[in-house]
Amino acid sequence: MEQVLLKNNKVSERGGILDQVKKLKASGLYPYFNAVSSTQGATAVFGDKEVLMFGSNNYLGLSGDPRIQEAVKKAVDKYGTSCTGSRFLNGTIDLHLELENELKEFLNKEGVIIFPTGFQVNSGVIPAVADKNDFIFIDELDHASIIDGCRMSFARRVKFRHSDMADLEQKLANNGVSGDITKLIVTDGIFSMDGDIAQLDKITNLAKQHDAMVMVDCAHSIGVIGKNGSGTASHFNITDEVDLIGGTFSKSLASVGGFIAGSADLIEYLSHASRSYIFSASLPPSSTAAALAALRIIRNDNSLQIKLWENTNYAIQLMNEAGLDIGNAESPIIPIYIRNSFTTFKIAKLLFDNGVYVNPVVAPGVKETDALLRFSLTALHTKQQIEYAIENIAKLVNKYC
Ligand SMILES: Cc1ncc(COP(=O)(O)O)c(C=O)c1O
Repeated sequence: MEQVLLKNNKVSERGGILDQVKKLKASGLYPYFNAVSSTQGATAVFGDKEVLMFGSNNYLGLSGDPRIQEAVKKAVDKYGTSCTGSRFLNGTIDLHLELENELKEFLNKEGVIIFPTGFQVNSGVIPAVADKNDFIFIDELDHASIIDGCRMSFARRVKFRHSDMADLEQKLANNGVSGDITKLIVTDGIFSMDGDIAQLDKITNLAKQHDAMVMVDCAHSIGVIGKNGSGTASHFNITDEVDLIGGTFSKSLASVGGFIAGSADLIEYLSHASRSYIFSASLPPSSTAAALAALRIIRNDNSLQIKLWENTNYAIQLMNEAGLDIGNAESPIIPIYIRNSFTTFKIAKLLFDNGVYVNPVVAPGVKETDALLRFSLTALHTKQQIEYAIENIAKLVNKYC
């Protein structure tokens, strides 16, 4: 965590972030906060430049779908633009309840509540489940919101090596005893940068042996894996063994917001105990309507999920043939490891100039030696677009790495 000192209205910070930003801007490679002026599908427009979009989380291509846009317009006409309060008080509308009911059926859980963002799911649920007497076991690559949730809980946080089940087992055995102490294991369902699928079946087995609860964050697996895209627990057919399934609407479900699903009692408890749920205004009607419309589309039709996987498998095949270092890529998030931050920025910039957008991911998002281009697919890409992008990436990687 960077420490910031504020003195005489000047910011000086010990982590050197501002210095790095200034250097990157001076080098012309600064890649952040570029404004998009279109929908983000297979292509997107930055300023007036149209590029192939291989950097969104719009896995099913539903953001920009006219059916969802229509549902949003109707919701705004009926409910206005804001619920102006917390779910707890005046901020619940019937659309929230419809979405929660349909999510419950989709995820096969007894209870669901929805939050204003996925970040707030993790930062609100984890501290409500674990406190200073408890232990939380997290994968070292878990999302920042899970880490913040742990911090806010005051529980003892035990990191295990990425997807290393022997390490998790040892840490479960060495930390905490059964009884009044809660042991909670929290994992991403698909890891947001490396794109691999959590070994949730093995995690739930270990949890049983060590009397631990399991929470999975399906931010990147909803729409992508499991029956009709219902996520990682469904993918492994172990929904009953996972205590809490969380996720976001900001990726496959073409909206913003998030959810947590679990047993009726647990969800009833969270709806009265989760601070980010209670002390924050509820999801706006527009976002609720968008998530509901997207959910209805994917529940009734898995053709987008099938197309997404055709594209994913094709891209992985081409990248392997081109000799790119893509680690254990097994999902629509494909990490192309460059392993040096500067080169990662440089290749991302040159790709953009050639009409291909990918996300450069560098430390502290990943370790410096794991700096990568995050290449992500949607169901909307064509084979030709995928071929063009990978040809360009391979040329630049061969030249600069
Ligand atoms: C694994 C994971 N969890 C949670 C979030 C936060 O979701 P939201 O964008 O809805 O706040 C993200 C978003 O990047 C994520 O990747």
